Amino acid sequence: MKLTSTSAAHLLAAVVYLYLQPASGANNSSKAPTLPLSSDSTFNFDLLIPLGLALTGGSDISPVLGVANKVEPGNMTSYYEEFYKLANYTKQQAEDPENAYDAINVRDTWFSTANYFRRADFFIHQNWSNPDIMTLWAEQTSAFNKAIAALPIPGKRIRIPARKQNFTIEAIWYGAASTNTTAKLPTLVVGNGFDAAQEDSYHNFCAPAVLRGWNCITYEGPGQNTVRRYQDVGFIPQWEDVGTPVIDWLYENQASVVDRDSLAILGNSFGSLLALRVAAFEPRIKAVVAIDGIWDFYQSAIASVPTDLVLLFEAGKKQEFDSQLLERRATDQLSTMAAWGLDQGLWSFNTHSPFDFITQAKEYEVSDFVKKIKVPVFIGNGEFDSFVTGQPATLKQALGTLGTLHDFNGTAGYHCQTGATQEMVRSFFAWLNKIFPKSM
Ligand SMILES: *[C@@H]1O[C@H](CO)[C@@H](O)[C@H](O)[C@H]1NC(C)=O
Ligand SMILES: *[C@@H]1O[C@H](CO)[C@@H](O)[C@H](O)[C@H]1NC(C)=O
Ligand SMILES: *[C@@H]1O[C@H](CO)[C@@H](O)[C@H](O)[C@H]1NC(C)=O
Ligand SMILES: *[C@@H]1O[C@H](CO)[C@@H](O)[C@H](O)[C@H]1NC(C)=O
Ligand SMILES: *[C@@H]1O[C@H](CO)[C@@H](O)[C@H](O)[C@H]1NC(C)=O
Ligand SMILES: *[C@@H]1O[C@H](CO)[C@@H](O)[C@H](O)[C@H]1NC(C)=O
Ligand SMILES: *[C@@H]1O[C@H](CO)[C@@H](O)[C@H](O)[C@H]1NC(C)=O
Ligand SMILES: *[C@@H]1O[C@H](CO)[C@@H](O)[C@H](O)[C@H]1NC(C)=O
Repeated sequence: MKLTSTSAAHLLAAVVYLYLQPASGANNSSKAPTLPLSSDSTFNFDLLIPLGLALTGGSDISPVLGVANKVEPGNMTSYYEEFYKLANYTKQQAEDPENAYDAINVRDTWFSTANYFRRADFFIHQNWSNPDIMTLWAEQTSAFNKAIAALPIPGKRIRIPARKQNFTIEAIWYGAASTNTTAKLPTLVVGNGFDAAQEDSYHNFCAPAVLRGWNCITYEGPGQNTVRRYQDVGFIPQWEDVGTPVIDWLYENQASVVDRDSLAILGNSFGSLLALRVAAFEPRIKAVVAIDGIWDFYQSAIASVPTDLVLLFEAGKKQEFDSQLLERRATDQLSTMAAWGLDQGLWSFNTHSPFDFITQAKEYEVSDFVKKIKVPVFIGNGEFDSFVTGQPATLKQALGTLGTLHDFNGTAGYHCQTGATQEMVRSFFAWLNKIFPKSM
């Protein structure tokens, strides 16, 4: 995948990938399938994320468009400030006793507040000591907890110790059955990738799942928002060590409501690779939904490094590679996407060395375990998902008849179908309905 400035127009920020081209020309939105929300294509994509969450009560349209109207394209500080202001403003409304007269108002205002605090956090990870990394997260967590407590069936945070390694998985359980039922229901296990939070996954996947009578559980492991922040652990390739304890927890704690024959795992973005890895090692999983199938994480990372620096990387010149790349970041010579991808990559892989980050990326390859996957896989294929160009088709080919490639074209073609959540969700649930016909 060689990224040009034109393909960068379609790139998405909530992605695992480095777009290390100079800033000029990386803002061309003229090929975007939707009306641009910013002349900076990365900001355009990032502004679609909170709009997509509106579908399930996670935001309000005009307030987000108001942020889009005020944010200076490409200025990360401005992005942070505008969302922080909106979060503060919405939090004030949530705290107003008159507003909080019923559970619907309570959860709507707190869900939106939580989302806006998460958005304010998105571009601030360059400096790990920035106290906002912790304070904004505390705010979003507190707001989200108030919201899920006000759901008709409250969501429950749980902590699951990993058995083989020394970290604790942070999860949220959303049961679909209201009261006293012992009906066993199909269950969706949802994991994110490089940057998104399990709170985003409630809106994108669990709210639609529960409406369809599916139990849902989201989880975070090393490198992801909670575990990285509070346990100081970066990504690990052995993702079965994260997924298996979650399935154990379902078997041990929700045995009366989980239909063991209808247990599916969904991975979002880089999380699709992680979900495939869990399915390869975990026979209790009966189907996989890979939202924009990724095959080789390293390929995505290295293909976008400028040629002069790729040569340094390949020659193993760690110090030169690191100092030159970090210098370009420090002097603002990278596109918004490249700068964000580098910041997020270093933070989530818990390293200050770009060389180390990209070296670690080599350990994430579906070919290592694809032969162990024995269950059907839905593979999303976004037309404008330049981050994984060609990879969904490679995944489909390797899986043979187990893989179903689903094209998301046009306005649903952004990475992870951002902004077209309904079309994405409808598509994979229609597929799940064929896999588990009796459960739906
Ligand atoms: C943006 O893309 C359009 C369509 O491909 C092209 O005509 C235009 O020259 C590009 N502009 C820049 C600044 O790259
Ligand atoms: C977008 O690109 C155009 C043409 O290269 C440039 O003049 C403009 O300043 C850029 N805008 C941003 C926000 O980077
Ligand atoms: C970015 O936005 C912030 C906040 O609005 C502002 O203080 C700063 O001057 C802007 N930076 C640039 C380079 O324009
Ligand atoms: C939001 O509120 C907090 C605490 O009340 C305050 O410290 C912060 O400056 C506010 N942020 C903005 C962007 O107004
Ligand atoms: C990072 O943030 C800390 C805490 O705000 C600050 O003391 C430090 O100067 C910042 N470092 C850089 C390089 O800006
Ligand atoms: C659920 O069970 C509790 C305790 O057994 C009982 O008090 C309650 O009425 C039941 N609710 C329904 C809707 O059956
Ligand atoms: C887990 O163990 C590793 C290696 O011993 C150590 O570096 C890390 O800090 C530990 N993490 C936690 C959360 O205890
Ligand atoms: C999506 O676009 C691809 C490439 O142009 C095409 O092959 C495919 O048939 C399209 N799929 C749908 C569902 O329109």
